[in-house]
Amino acid sequence: MAVREILRMGDERLLRVAPPVPDDLFGTDVLRGLINDLRDTMAAASGAGIAAPQIGVDLRVVIFGGTGPNPRYPDAPEIPFTVLCNPQLVPLAAETEAGWEGCLSVPGLRGDVPRFTHMRYSGRDVDGMPFERTVDGFHARVVQHECDHLDGILYPRRIEDMTRFGFTDVLFPALVA
Ligand code: NI
Repeated sequence: MAVREILRMGDERLLRVAPPVPDDLFGTDVLRGLINDLRDTMAAASGAGIAAPQIGVDLRVVIFGGTGPNPRYPDAPEIPFTVLCNPQLVPLAAETEAGWEGCLSVPGLRGDVPRFTHMRYSGRDVDGMPFERTVDGFHARVVQHECDHLDGILYPRRIEDMTRFGFTDVLFPALVA
């Protein structure tokens, strides 16, 4: 287990479309080690979630939640700790809602990003067991943000009104960057 370096925007490894986790990697110490490193790295940075490409691992793996109250998102509802491999996302309504997002790969900044409000997502856990959830609100936002990383998309590309993009400590003086 280790805290890994988080790649920052500008690193071309964040722009790759990651391949799926192969069947023979599920349930292995290699995949568990990756999950442990992601969890340590997310916790050290007070992240709400993190995707494998953010630590330079080119696989469709994201984790999120389970952090308890988060100083970077003090008003956000808690999300259970989730390991999501090879995710599939299905919006359940056309409705989107704008909300402020940050990213560990874009430190010190926040942007107002539209996301689908209601989603179903499915995928596999660390052992390869399939699961699915229907979620809304902040949970739906986090999943969309993290899964965008698997397609090489950082949230600034999703901002529609660039006047609503700025430094966290200027926009929200009370928040931790
Ligand atoms: Ni991110």
